[in-house]
Amino acid sequence: MNIKGMLVAMLTGAALATEPIDTDLLFLGQGLYIDQCQRCHAADGSGPSTVDIRGFEVDDIKMALQGFEQMPVFDMNEKEIAALSVYLNVLEGTRQR
Ligand code: HEC
Repeated sequence: MNIKGMLVAMLTGAALATEPIDTDLLFLGQGLYIDQCQRCHAADGSGPSTVDIRGFEVDDIKMALQGFEQMPVFDMNEKEIAALSVYLNVLEGTRQR
């Protein structure tokens, strides 16, 4: 198993097992998140110094990307926003219960 396969197994195991995860979207979302969101919202999305955005849905993300207060404006397309929501949902699944 390659490193991506291991990561998928790990993340999907932790996520809610209700619907299959689109892994292309997952990796796109992960890349976008690491590049552009992690520095403010933390690697796990818990955003201790900003906002915990784990589990945020497409509509919430769209609104936030238009920018408000400390949140910068991002120009992203529908696919990128959908990808971010897939990744944020996986992060939601890693939350300590
Ligand atoms: C420069 C730091 C910074 C970066 C980079 C950043 N954010 Fe934020 N974000 C914030 C802050 C701070 C808030 C809280 C808004 C406020 O009140 O200022 C926020 C709020 C949000 C919210 C809304 C939470 C709510 O309460 O509705 C979402 C969703 C969000 N960010 C997603 C993202 C995503 C997705 C990215 C990457 C594309 C990102 N953010 C990048 C700082 C950042």
